[in-house]
Amino acid sequence: MNRLSEFMLPPAKSTLAAETDALFHFINVTSIILLAGITFAIVYFSWKYRRRSEDDVTPVITHNNKLEITWSVIPLILVMIVFGWGFTGYLNLTTAPDDSYEIRVVGKSWLWEFHYETGHVSVNELHVPVNRPVKLIMSSDDVLHSFYIPDFRVKMDVLPNRYTSVWFEAIETGESIIYCAEYCGNAHSNMLATTYVHSVEDFETWLETAGSADDDMDPVELGEQLVTRNACDTCHSTDGTRLQGPSFQGLWGSEREMQDGEIVTVDENYVRESILEPNARITAGFDPVMPSYSGTLSDRQIDAIIEYLKTLQ
Ligand code: CUA
Repeated sequence: MNRLSEFMLPPAKSTLAAETDALFHFINVTSIILLAGITFAIVYFSWKYRRRSEDDVTPVITHNNKLEITWSVIPLILVMIVFGWGFTGYLNLTTAPDDSYEIRVVGKSWLWEFHYETGHVSVNELHVPVNRPVKLIMSSDDVLHSFYIPDFRVKMDVLPNRYTSVWFEAIETGESIIYCAEYCGNAHSNMLATTYVHSVEDFETWLETAGSADDDMDPVELGEQLVTRNACDTCHSTDGTRLQGPSFQGLWGSEREMQDGEIVTVDENYVRESILEPNARITAGFDPVMPSYSGTLSDRQIDAIIEYLKTLQ
């Protein structure tokens, strides 16, 4: 089974992954055996009972109780096994242990925000401790997204106006990719994030220092990091390429026409407003799809991004 898992599936890095995989393989292997058996029977019978001469007449058979019971009971047993196994697995997957560490997850077009108990918010980076159940309480700020970590075998829809949750317990430290598994617009395929599984001590340290780590960093350098860390570059290129939003290159100080015909000079106030209230003014030719970073970015971080934009001429 392990060899089969390695061949067919991503590494199993959560406590429940092995159970999920076992059921997956059971359904797969049973289906392959049935497919092979039925295919063989069809070919064999069509050869065995082929028409041998002109007066070869097929006998009329109305029914065969024994045969009919056999082919009804075997699938019924298989389906009941899958149901029982799947249902207990589903209960395990949906019932988070009481001592779970809780993290709030917000899906936005097109990024993932993670809110921790300390008030720290990270974008597209989920930090969790190893060997401890983690429960994610999730919602969306706009459209339907789906939170998916293949390595942990968890996937759950993330909806606006309603909370959904998943839980997992990572069994080894390292990184695992997070996907959005529900088509949610232009940059859906870029709605990627990473799970960082730390040892318990490293996680505590990360939680304590997160957010203050960049306190004495140079503003331009910090701004550049923030643009990547907050997934601004999913929609705004830094080399002039047109993505979902206007490129950052040559943006600073330029005059832009808005959708309502207003001409705006890109300065501190405009950039700040665009970050906190992205839909207040929309550049002509673009869609109003940017999420607000209000509550995510501090004033100092917004200043740093402004300093960085100034360098992209
Ligand atoms: Cu969010 Cu696809």
